[in-house]
Amino acid sequence: MTDQITDPTPTGLTEGELRADLTLEQLKELVGLVEYDASRDPFPVTAMDSIGFVVGNATQTAGFYQLALGMDLEAYRGPENGWRESKSYVLRSGSARFVFTGAVDPASPLADHHRRHGDGVVDLALEVPDVDRCIEHARSVGATILVEPHDETDEHGTVRLAAIATYGETRHTLVDRSRYHGPYLPGYAARSSAVRRGEGHPKRLFQAIDHAVGNVELGRMDEWVEFYNKVMGFTNMAEFIGDDIATDYSALMSKVVASGNHRVKFPLNEPAVARKKSQIDEYLEFYAGAGCQHIALATNDILRTVDLLRDNGIEFLDTPDSYYDDPELRERIGNVRVPVGELKRRRILVDRDEDGYLLQIFTKPMGDRPTVFFEFIERHGSLGFGKGNFKALFEAIEREQDARGNL
Ligand SMILES: [Fe+2]
Repeated sequence: MTDQITDPTPTGLTEGELRADLTLEQLKELVGLVEYDASRDPFPVTAMDSIGFVVGNATQTAGFYQLALGMDLEAYRGPENGWRESKSYVLRSGSARFVFTGAVDPASPLADHHRRHGDGVVDLALEVPDVDRCIEHARSVGATILVEPHDETDEHGTVRLAAIATYGETRHTLVDRSRYHGPYLPGYAARSSAVRRGEGHPKRLFQAIDHAVGNVELGRMDEWVEFYNKVMGFTNMAEFIGDDIATDYSALMSKVVASGNHRVKFPLNEPAVARKKSQIDEYLEFYAGAGCQHIALATNDILRTVDLLRDNGIEFLDTPDSYYDDPELRERIGNVRVPVGELKRRRILVDRDEDGYLLQIFTKPMGDRPTVFFEFIERHGSLGFGKGNFKALFEAIEREQDARGNL
């Protein structure tokens, strides 16, 4: 084992991070990156490679994410380049890459998948330095191998790929793209955005993926925590939410697992028994099973990001005025980089722990079903996930749930 595994490039940054002009210092701040020794890791993971979504209309979804979330189109695969089943659009913001796929052929299994689950995340793809080693380990501890390791090649080089199953119908594709220089994967053509942004619009509204949260069925959280411990060598982070954090209606339990370098962090939620239907139960019902609940996107200026996203029509969960005015809460928040009034005006939440603080805000569900949504997060030392905000957040979610008649 060489240092190359801890240092994806000689600078310690991934190709995607380098292209996004990110520095190690920024990443430590942005996503809580830590140094670690990969030599004893049975399943070394470099970073998130991409997040794959299946949607009802990838063409329009790709347009929406360019227009509203400021992402750039990078690559495309579809009937025009010989792939008749579906259309896939690859979008990027900083080191974050999303792939939106929609069925073209009515007989495609993707169409069935979409009928069952609606728009959602199907693949939390991971960049790894050694696909075969990961699969060998995963198999030895009983993981389900969905795609065996194999090469795919085109004029831009060769990628090594495999995939393992995780919760619900979600998978982790494993990608080693160290011998590949194309826009995304073999079969994809480079394609750039036709969107022209106005003067003064920043280059991007977010820089990286901070974490991806899974909702799993009642009683199965520990099973999935163990899966990530055993199969992927992920360790448990300190943040833990037991059934002590609950409102009268919504309750959940949550634990967080992370890859060695903390570039990849997966909180896992399960519903806790409560008087009324919890937000996790609502998700499980409308997604028809376990799946990815939200993706947190790291920004270094959440105020500007939120202002621009709102201007672009993105809707966020509301937070009661009491959240900002409550003296106990003000005390807990302490000093943050802007006056609390600036946060209140934008409904941005604050959480603090012994390491520092974080600012965060949650969008409403992105699609028709009350399932996947986004979080925007600006970290200042805190490695947490906003545990202190759960109660305030639940109350806001419940008002939405109530308006949909699902409480
Ligand atoms: Fe989160």
